[in-house]
Amino acid sequence: MINPMGKRNRTAVQAKLADYGVDIPVLMDDARVISEELGIARTGEVLLFSPSSFEVEYRGSLEGAQAAIDEILAGEAVSVAMTETTGSMVSYEQMASVPSYSQDIAPILAENCASCHREGGIAPFAMDSHTMVKGWSPMIREVLMTKRMPPGQIDGHIGEFINDMLIEDQEVRNIIAWVEAGAPKDDANDPLAELTWPETKWAFGEPDYIIKVPPQSVPATGVVDYRDVAVLIDIPRIAGYAAVNTLQVIALCCTTRLTVSISPARRAADSSAVATQIRQASLRIFRVQRRS
Ligand code: HEC
Repeated sequence: MINPMGKRNRTAVQAKLADYGVDIPVLMDDARVISEELGIARTGEVLLFSPSSFEVEYRGSLEGAQAAIDEILAGEAVSVAMTETTGSMVSYEQMASVPSYSQDIAPILAENCASCHREGGIAPFAMDSHTMVKGWSPMIREVLMTKRMPPGQIDGHIGEFINDMLIEDQEVRNIIAWVEAGAPKDDANDPLAELTWPETKWAFGEPDYIIKVPPQSVPATGVVDYRDVAVLIDIPRIAGYAAVNTLQVIALCCTTRLTVSISPARRAADSSAVATQIRQASLRIFRVQRRS
């Protein structure tokens, strides 16, 4: 199920589901880019989407959907691809003009993407010019729609984080509208070409301690399950840092992300307790995935 109405309180949506007595996952399409792409014009519409052709094969009432499903299962073409429904209209705000690359788009990419997507950065291509970004624009649209980027899958509804690089719903809409308009360059300015970066590879300063993770081999294509990898940590050295408050190690390379964290709540003044906690902290490797 998809909620095409934009930011709606999750509790309210959950309460509605409970009213109807249904228990199915709901995609909260906050930026509404999926709903608009699918052409959802009313609430209560049923859509049959073909994952192989990426096309909507049917839209309309539930009864009509049943007939369409029967036809698809029988290997036939859908005879009535659209029926009328009576839900409330869903409207999408139209942009007065194509967002400007130098005024609207480049600043968003500079703030949320370019620190990784730069020469010598951890991401596979540098967003350092209009030409580069234009070349990658179809993929940029895809990663924003599928919420793969910015990485981390941080839930913007919960808590306030610094450096979460979450991008605003309206910014997502702007970038997608710009990509769909052919990623034009509107003036001679190229803010991405003017970005400069510190020489050091450590964004937050030299780390106190580096944990070495044994090399992992991953297949060139496909999806790999979660892996828990145990690593030896030099406990006395870590415990020696007076400020072991939250130990958070994030390593990110082009295909893999590693996260270890120990919450401040579990911190103990006693270094041996810290040691036990560190030992218990598991190292998660997730999203070990590479596209063919
Ligand atoms: C924290 C670092 C980081 C940030 C911030 C980041 N990226 Fe990425 N990006 C990566 C890495 C690493 C990869 C390669 C691995 C992957 O696809 O997950 C990648 C891959 C991509 C790809 C190629 C995907 C593919 O499958 O070929 C695109 C397009 C992309 N990023 C766009 C963006 C956009 C747009 C933003 C900002 C909204 C962004 N990235 C922010 C690290 C980052």
